Amino acid sequence: LASIEVDVSSLEPGMSLTAKWRGKPVFIRNRTDKEVEEAKAVPLTDLKDPVARNANIPADAEATDVDRSAGEGKENWIVMIGSCTHLGCVPLGQAGDFGGWFCPCHGSHYDTAGRIRKGPAPQNLAVPTYSFVSDTVIKIG
Ligand code: FES
Repeated sequence: LASIEVDVSSLEPGMSLTAKWRGKPVFIRNRTDKEVEEAKAVPLTDLKDPVARNANIPADAEATDVDRSAGEGKENWIVMIGSCTHLGCVPLGQAGDFGGWFCPCHGSHYDTAGRIRKGPAPQNLAVPTYSFVSDTVIKIG
């Protein structure tokens, strides 16, 4: 299946872009240190969905912040399919009760690691297969 390469060199901390991959939006965010710290501070027992849902790591990995992100050393980066896990609306960024994403269709609140924290969505936002092909280019798929 087709992969795409996305130049993220223009994304300063706190900035995002939305790419399109396989007909779906993909959110790429360069998170601020504060956003990372907030996500790290959440006990796993507070999570509605304790599974990382990250296609790049084992399917049973826990939804820690590092395992939701691009990993050690690149924890500021988060890449997710922009499709609410309830019924597929596109969530809004930097919104909702947890400062992450908010789905206005039926009120699902995701945190700064894209984990579902409140509302009807059953799962964390899915992390697609991706990798950094350089410091500033991400290949999705
Ligand atoms: Fe997002 Fe229902 S589709 S809350």
